[in-house]
Amino acid sequence: MSRIPDSTIAEIRGRADIVGLVGRYVELKQAGRNWRGLCPFHSEKTPSFNVNPDRQIFHCFGCQEGGDVIAFLMKHSGLSFPEAARSLAGELGIEIPEERDAGEAGLTARLFEANEIAHSLYREALREPEGKLARNYLVSRGFDGKLADAYGIGYAPARWDAVATRLRERRVAAEIGVRAGLLLDRKSGGGHYDRLRGRLVFPIQDVRGRVIGFGGRALEADQDPKYLNTPETPIFQKRHGFYGFPDALESIRRAGRVVICEGYFDRIAFARAGVGEALATCGTALSAEHGEQLRRRTREVVLVFDGDRAGQAATEKALAVLLPHGLRVRAALIPGGRDPDDYLNQDGPEALRRLVDDAPDALELSIRNAVRHGIATPDQKADVVAQVAPLVARVQDPVSRDEYARRLALAVQAAPAAVAAVVRDAARSSLQTPRVDGEALGLERTRRDAPEERQLRELARLCLQRPLLIGDEIALQLEELLPLGAWKSIIRAIIDEAQQGEPASTPGGGVDAFAVEARLDRESQGRLREIAVDDTPIDATRSAEQVLADLMEWFERRQLAARNQELTRQLRVSDEDYEDLLAKKDAALRERRARLASSASRANGSAHAIEGID
Ligand code: UTP
Ligand code: MN
Repeated sequence: MSRIPDSTIAEIRGRADIVGLVGRYVELKQAGRNWRGLCPFHSEKTPSFNVNPDRQIFHCFGCQEGGDVIAFLMKHSGLSFPEAARSLAGELGIEIPEERDAGEAGLTARLFEANEIAHSLYREALREPEGKLARNYLVSRGFDGKLADAYGIGYAPARWDAVATRLRERRVAAEIGVRAGLLLDRKSGGGHYDRLRGRLVFPIQDVRGRVIGFGGRALEADQDPKYLNTPETPIFQKRHGFYGFPDALESIRRAGRVVICEGYFDRIAFARAGVGEALATCGTALSAEHGEQLRRRTREVVLVFDGDRAGQAATEKALAVLLPHGLRVRAALIPGGRDPDDYLNQDGPEALRRLVDDAPDALELSIRNAVRHGIATPDQKADVVAQVAPLVARVQDPVSRDEYARRLALAVQAAPAAVAAVVRDAARSSLQTPRVDGEALGLERTRRDAPEERQLRELARLCLQRPLLIGDEIALQLEELLPLGAWKSIIRAIIDEAQQGEPASTPGGGVDAFAVEARLDRESQGRLREIAVDDTPIDATRSAEQVLADLMEWFERRQLAARNQELTRQLRVSDEDYEDLLAKKDAALRERRARLASSASRANGSAHAIEGID
């Protein structure tokens, strides 16, 4: 974004009326030269918040918050400096000169323009005959035209040049389309083609409502990947971007919290359930930059990830990223490996709202989870404390940090002083880590953090470490259950190698990774290397058989949910006999129950009988 000249900032400060602006949000009474009221930034009963019109500043003697008009707007509405300045300038009718020297400023504007043009094309296409598949799909997911419109959802035509042509007609250079991530260069013969084709499109906007990128969902089974997002561009960085702006801003302020989820549909599910303060990451883990943005807007974050083990891990990683920003974090885990959108459809809006309202404190949840690994022996206690201490150490407020440390000590039945010492050590070593974010924790910022990817990766890792687990029957089931893509080829290659190749000399019957590698294409080889070097145990608390059974059950549920959706879609959009479809749907549901029951008994019946209660 272009820099706002200092002279313009001075003009904004000079012309704005700080008493008037603050007075919109805080009831002020005149007290001598100052105006006084209850501080909006901390809770108090007697007013210590002062606004001084002569110097155009505010100051709170209670919490020491203070500054000029721009600072007030930043703090109060959660805007960045340029956002606040531009907003005030707009109100005051002050023109902000665009930097003339900067090609970048011009470039940014042109990228936004290209996105805007593409966005209108996508929206139009959704209404054209060619958008029928996408419209039917939306109906199957409970959307009507009005709702799709409200969220700016569109359809990227299944042609090579829909956007390319439209940009040309509007005299936008193809080069700009490429830099916006809309177009790709043809490998040979020159020219360009559309990145998103035959996909449902979600516009991703910045806080000011400008389209910075798109998420495109596959509509057909053989389209890979499931979601194709805009790549990194000068105006779209996944580690900054959230899906859900600017709609969520007002709700975040009113609710005093933000809900973070992982999917486009999930964000909309929250909004439909009356939880407007939800934002979704765009196919990446939560980053320090995300944390910084959230901190400017709220004090409390509620994380809602899938309720599987991978979701649990994602929650802890997000917690590690958010705590250093002084945010309070709660976490809801949805039972049964479902996501918020599934939950809304199956259990209704009230249940989804309750899930958020009742979400337990995330750090306490982590303590409880860690304790499940056992605290029978001194070493187990030490392990649990060592696992949670780095999280406790990241809590900014010293009083709450001490309290968490005390609860951790209580949970493992250890001496509070000893636990406090471990936390202090952890705090010191985290200070030496320059950046406390996903990267520092060895996380990656890719779509690998998407739930399905995590499950596939875990499954592939399990196959590689314990190929003997996969008999013919399981191999066949996996073939049927797993979505097409790189991970499926990797898993196939591992199974084939285990069945046909030389038995590897690794203890535990691992398979020879080099032999598997030889069976794969370049992209899959990279992923295989990644899981091959990752030698952390799959899961210390469950047997490998149990882990495998749970993973398969997860994919089974997914597949059944998809089938169910397909039936619902047919039910709504075709004129096939209604009764007939109902019967089919019923049969599918019965089949689903039977399969889940059999997969539960297939895996180690006794453990499931105990867990099966939930
Ligand atoms: P999921 O695979 O859980 O999909 O990925 P979902 O949101 O439930 O989607 P539906 O309901 O099946 O349509 C969660 C998020 O991870 C990112 C997307 O942002 C997605 O919404 N993702 C997933 C990708 O970026 N690429 C993928 O291939 C898959
Ligand atoms: Mn979903």
